[in-house]
Amino acid sequence: MNSITLPRAAVHRGALILVNASHPLADGFSPALAPLSGDGHILLDRTAAALLRACIQACGGESEIVAVSGWRSHGEQQRIWDDSLAGHGERFTRRYVALPGCSEHQTGLAIDLGRAARRIDFIRPAFPNHGACGRFRRMAAGYGFIERYQHSKEAVTGIAAEPWHFRYVGAPHARLIHDHGLCLEEYVPFLRDGGARLCPLGDGRCAQVFYVPCQGETTEIELPGEATISGDNDGGFIVTLWSASRSRIA
Ligand code: DAL
Ligand code: ZN
Repeated sequence: MNSITLPRAAVHRGALILVNASHPLADGFSPALAPLSGDGHILLDRTAAALLRACIQACGGESEIVAVSGWRSHGEQQRIWDDSLAGHGERFTRRYVALPGCSEHQTGLAIDLGRAARRIDFIRPAFPNHGACGRFRRMAAGYGFIERYQHSKEAVTGIAAEPWHFRYVGAPHARLIHDHGLCLEEYVPFLRDGGARLCPLGDGRCAQVFYVPCQGETTEIELPGEATISGDNDGGFIVTLWSASRSRIA
Protein backbone atom coordinates (compact mmCIF):
# COMPACT_ATOMS: atom_id res chain seq x y z
CA MET A 1 0.00 0.00 0.00
CA ASN A 2 1.43 3.38 -1.04
CA SER A 3 0.47 6.66 0.47
CA ILE A 4 0.69 10.21 -0.80
CA THR A 5 0.88 13.44 1.18
CA LEU A 6 -0.81 16.41 -0.41
CA PRO A 7 -0.39 20.07 0.56
CA ARG A 8 -3.51 22.14 1.14
CA ALA A 9 -2.82 24.09 -2.08
CA ALA A 10 -3.41 20.90 -4.12
CA VAL A 11 -7.14 21.37 -3.45
CA HIS A 12 -7.04 24.05 -6.17
CA ARG A 13 -5.46 21.92 -8.92
CA GLY A 14 -6.60 19.07 -11.14
CA ALA A 15 -9.15 18.13 -13.80
CA LEU A 16 -12.07 18.16 -11.37
CA ILE A 17 -11.76 21.62 -9.87
CA LEU A 18 -15.10 23.35 -9.60
CA VAL A 19 -14.92 26.90 -10.95
CA ASN A 20 -18.00 29.10 -10.65
CA ALA A 21 -19.10 32.38 -9.08
CA SER A 22 -18.57 31.03 -5.55
CA HIS A 23 -15.41 29.06 -6.43
CA PRO A 24 -12.95 31.39 -8.20
CA LEU A 25 -9.65 30.16 -9.55
CA ALA A 26 -6.81 30.21 -7.04
CA ASP A 27 -4.24 33.00 -7.37
CA GLY A 28 -1.35 31.99 -9.60
CA PHE A 29 -3.24 29.14 -11.25
CA SER A 30 -1.25 28.14 -14.33
CA PRO A 31 -2.49 25.32 -16.54
CA ALA A 32 -0.23 23.18 -18.77
CA LEU A 33 -1.57 24.27 -22.15
CA ALA A 34 -1.18 22.90 -25.66
CA PRO A 35 -2.41 24.21 -29.01
CA LEU A 36 -5.57 22.47 -30.15
CA SER A 37 -4.60 22.66 -33.81
CA GLY A 38 -1.62 23.52 -35.97
CA ASP A 39 -2.33 27.25 -36.16
CA GLY A 40 -1.98 27.54 -32.35
CA HIS A 41 -5.00 29.82 -32.30
CA ILE A 42 -6.81 27.97 -29.50
CA LEU A 43 -5.08 26.58 -26.42
CA LEU A 44 -6.39 23.91 -24.09
CA ASP A 45 -5.12 21.83 -21.18
CA ARG A 46 -2.71 19.29 -22.75
CA THR A 47 -4.70 16.17 -21.85
CA ALA A 48 -8.04 17.77 -22.71
CA ALA A 49 -6.67 18.88 -26.11
CA ALA A 50 -5.59 15.34 -27.05
CA LEU A 51 -8.91 13.82 -26.00
CA LEU A 52 -10.96 16.52 -27.72
CA ARG A 53 -9.11 15.86 -30.98
CA ALA A 54 -9.70 12.12 -30.52
CA CYS A 55 -13.43 12.59 -29.88
CA ILE A 56 -13.89 14.91 -32.87
CA GLN A 57 -12.11 12.38 -35.06
CA ALA A 58 -14.12 9.45 -33.66
CA CYS A 59 -17.43 11.18 -34.40
CA GLY A 60 -16.31 12.18 -37.92
CA GLY A 61 -16.54 15.86 -37.07
CA GLU A 62 -13.25 17.21 -38.44
CA SER A 63 -14.93 19.35 -41.10
CA GLU A 64 -18.22 20.02 -39.30
CA ILE A 65 -17.09 20.94 -35.77
CA VAL A 66 -15.18 24.14 -35.06
CA ALA A 67 -13.44 25.07 -31.81
CA VAL A 68 -14.70 28.56 -30.98
CA SER A 69 -13.11 29.37 -27.61
CA GLY A 70 -10.74 27.41 -25.37
CA TRP A 71 -8.38 28.73 -22.70
CA ARG A 72 -8.86 32.39 -21.81
CA SER A 73 -6.58 34.58 -19.74
CA HIS A 74 -8.14 36.68 -16.98
CA GLY A 75 -7.77 39.72 -19.22
CA GLU A 76 -9.55 38.01 -22.09
CA GLN A 77 -12.44 36.92 -19.87
CA GLN A 78 -12.65 40.52 -18.60
CA ARG A 79 -12.79 41.82 -22.19
CA ILE A 80 -15.54 39.33 -23.11
CA TRP A 81 -17.49 40.33 -19.98
CA ASP A 82 -17.09 44.07 -20.71
CA ASP A 83 -18.01 43.70 -24.40
CA SER A 84 -21.06 41.58 -23.57
CA LEU A 85 -22.17 44.05 -20.91
CA ALA A 86 -21.88 46.93 -23.40
CA GLY A 87 -23.53 45.02 -26.25
CA HIS A 88 -26.15 42.82 -24.58
CA GLY A 89 -26.71 44.23 -21.09
CA GLU A 90 -26.32 42.78 -17.61
CA ARG A 91 -29.04 40.11 -17.62
CA PHE A 92 -27.70 38.44 -20.77
CA THR A 93 -24.10 38.75 -19.61
CA ARG A 94 -24.73 37.15 -16.19
CA ARG A 95 -26.54 34.26 -17.92
CA TYR A 96 -23.87 33.53 -20.55
CA VAL A 97 -20.53 34.92 -19.35
CA ALA A 98 -18.78 33.92 -16.13
CA LEU A 99 -17.31 36.65 -13.97
CA PRO A 100 -13.60 37.19 -14.68
CA GLY A 101 -11.69 34.93 -12.28
CA CYS A 102 -14.64 32.54 -12.14
CA SER A 103 -14.68 31.13 -15.67
CA GLU A 104 -13.70 27.56 -16.28
CA HIS A 105 -12.26 28.73 -19.61
CA GLN A 106 -9.43 30.14 -17.48
CA THR A 107 -8.55 26.57 -16.40
CA GLY A 108 -7.93 25.39 -19.98
CA LEU A 109 -10.39 22.56 -19.32
CA ALA A 110 -13.38 24.09 -21.14
CA ILE A 111 -14.06 24.36 -24.85
CA ASP A 112 -16.87 26.03 -26.78
CA LEU A 113 -17.69 24.16 -29.98
CA GLY A 114 -19.74 25.32 -32.95
CA ARG A 115 -21.05 23.87 -36.18
CA ALA A 116 -18.95 25.12 -39.09
CA ALA A 117 -20.67 28.07 -40.75
CA ARG A 118 -19.76 31.36 -42.43
CA ARG A 119 -20.70 33.27 -39.29
CA ILE A 120 -20.40 31.77 -35.83
CA ASP A 121 -21.68 33.57 -32.74
CA PHE A 122 -18.72 33.81 -30.33
CA ILE A 123 -20.74 33.80 -27.10
CA ARG A 124 -23.55 31.44 -28.18
CA PRO A 125 -22.34 29.27 -31.08
CA ALA A 126 -24.86 26.85 -32.57
CA PHE A 127 -24.06 23.25 -31.65
CA PRO A 128 -27.12 21.21 -32.63
CA ASN A 129 -28.14 17.69 -31.67
CA HIS A 130 -27.86 16.28 -35.16
CA GLY A 131 -25.00 15.41 -37.48
CA ALA A 132 -21.44 15.31 -36.18
CA CYS A 133 -22.34 17.73 -33.35
CA GLY A 134 -24.97 15.28 -32.07
CA ARG A 135 -22.54 12.38 -32.39
CA PHE A 136 -19.92 14.38 -30.49
CA ARG A 137 -22.41 15.10 -27.71
CA ARG A 138 -23.26 11.41 -27.38
CA MET A 139 -19.62 10.30 -27.40
CA ALA A 140 -18.21 13.09 -25.23
CA ALA A 141 -18.42 11.31 -21.86
CA GLY A 142 -16.35 8.42 -23.18
CA TYR A 143 -13.54 10.93 -23.84
CA GLY A 144 -13.93 12.64 -20.47
CA PHE A 145 -16.12 15.64 -21.40
CA ILE A 146 -19.42 16.77 -19.89
CA GLU A 147 -21.96 19.20 -21.28
CA ARG A 148 -21.42 21.58 -18.42
CA TYR A 149 -24.44 23.90 -18.44
CA GLN A 150 -27.77 22.16 -18.91
CA HIS A 151 -31.14 23.84 -18.81
CA SER A 152 -32.33 21.60 -15.95
CA LYS A 153 -29.39 22.70 -13.77
CA GLU A 154 -29.61 26.44 -14.35
CA ALA A 155 -30.62 27.10 -10.74
CA VAL A 156 -27.54 25.19 -9.52
CA THR A 157 -24.91 26.43 -11.97
CA GLY A 158 -26.17 30.01 -12.22
CA ILE A 159 -25.51 29.86 -15.99
CA ALA A 160 -28.08 29.41 -18.77
CA ALA A 161 -28.11 26.30 -20.96
CA GLU A 162 -24.95 26.27 -23.09
CA PRO A 163 -25.13 23.21 -25.35
CA TRP A 164 -21.82 24.30 -26.95
CA HIS A 165 -19.71 24.40 -23.75
CA PHE A 166 -17.92 21.17 -22.85
CA ARG A 167 -15.73 20.66 -19.82
CA TYR A 168 -13.02 18.05 -19.49
CA VAL A 169 -13.20 16.13 -16.19
CA GLY A 170 -11.79 12.70 -17.15
CA ALA A 171 -13.62 9.66 -18.46
CA PRO A 172 -14.83 7.86 -15.31
CA HIS A 173 -16.09 11.13 -13.87
CA ALA A 174 -17.82 12.25 -17.06
CA ARG A 175 -19.53 8.85 -17.22
CA LEU A 176 -20.66 9.01 -13.56
CA ILE A 177 -21.83 12.63 -13.88
CA HIS A 178 -23.74 11.82 -17.08
CA ASP A 179 -25.27 8.53 -15.90
CA HIS A 180 -26.44 10.01 -12.59
CA GLY A 181 -27.84 13.19 -14.17
CA LEU A 182 -25.58 15.51 -12.19
CA CYS A 183 -23.85 18.81 -12.85
CA LEU A 184 -20.32 19.44 -11.59
CA GLU A 185 -21.60 21.36 -8.55
CA GLU A 186 -23.44 18.17 -7.50
CA TYR A 187 -20.59 15.72 -8.07
CA VAL A 188 -18.56 16.14 -4.88
CA PRO A 189 -21.65 16.02 -2.62
CA PHE A 190 -22.64 12.85 -4.53
CA LEU A 191 -19.26 11.21 -3.80
CA ARG A 192 -18.94 12.63 -0.28
CA ASP A 193 -22.39 11.54 0.85
CA GLY A 194 -22.74 8.38 -1.24
CA GLY A 195 -19.30 6.86 -0.72
CA ALA A 196 -16.95 5.26 -3.25
CA ARG A 197 -18.26 4.61 -6.75
CA LEU A 198 -17.21 2.13 -9.40
CA CYS A 199 -17.11 3.04 -13.05
CA PRO A 200 -16.49 0.41 -15.76
CA LEU A 201 -13.63 1.44 -18.07
CA GLY A 202 -14.81 -0.74 -20.95
CA ASP A 203 -11.91 -3.18 -20.84
CA GLY A 204 -13.13 -5.36 -17.98
CA ARG A 205 -11.55 -3.09 -15.40
CA CYS A 206 -13.25 -0.51 -13.24
CA ALA A 207 -12.08 2.78 -11.87
CA GLN A 208 -12.94 3.35 -8.22
CA VAL A 209 -13.69 6.95 -7.32
CA PHE A 210 -13.90 8.41 -3.83
CA TYR A 211 -13.71 11.72 -1.99
CA VAL A 212 -11.22 12.62 0.74
CA PRO A 213 -11.65 15.84 2.73
CA CYS A 214 -8.65 18.11 3.13
CA GLN A 215 -7.31 17.43 6.61
CA GLY A 216 -5.29 20.59 7.25
CA GLU A 217 -1.92 21.79 6.01
CA THR A 218 -1.30 18.29 4.62
CA THR A 219 -3.57 15.36 3.78
CA GLU A 220 -2.29 11.78 3.65
CA ILE A 221 -4.13 9.35 1.40
CA GLU A 222 -3.55 5.57 1.29
CA LEU A 223 -3.43 4.28 -2.28
CA PRO A 224 -3.69 0.54 -2.97
CA GLY A 225 -2.74 1.03 -6.65
CA GLU A 226 -2.18 3.49 -9.47
CA ALA A 227 -4.25 6.61 -8.87
CA THR A 228 -4.98 10.10 -10.12
CA ILE A 229 -5.94 12.77 -7.62
CA SER A 230 -7.65 16.08 -8.29
CA GLY A 231 -8.59 18.84 -5.92
CA ASP A 232 -12.20 20.05 -5.94
CA ASN A 233 -11.28 23.76 -5.53
CA ASP A 234 -13.25 23.70 -2.29
CA GLY A 235 -12.53 21.41 0.66
CA GLY A 236 -11.05 18.17 -0.58
CA PHE A 237 -9.79 15.72 -3.15
CA ILE A 238 -11.28 13.25 -5.59
CA VAL A 239 -9.25 10.05 -5.92
CA THR A 240 -9.46 7.81 -9.00
CA LEU A 241 -8.00 4.31 -8.54
CA TRP A 242 -7.37 2.84 -11.96
CA SER A 243 -6.62 -0.81 -11.33
CA ALA A 244 -9.65 -1.81 -9.33
CA SER A 245 -11.38 -5.01 -10.41
CA ARG A 246 -14.98 -5.67 -9.49
CA SER A 247 -14.09 -8.69 -7.33
CA ARG A 248 -11.48 -6.76 -5.35
CA ILE A 249 -13.88 -4.02 -4.41
CA ALA A 250 -17.06 -6.04 -3.91
N1 DAL B 1 -19.80 30.98 -20.88
C1 DAL B 1 -19.17 30.49 -19.68
C2 DAL B 1 -20.13 30.46 -18.53
C3 DAL B 1 -17.94 31.29 -19.33
O1 DAL B 1 -17.88 32.47 -19.66
O2 DAL B 1 -17.08 30.73 -18.68
ZN1 ZN C 1 -17.72 28.19 -22.80
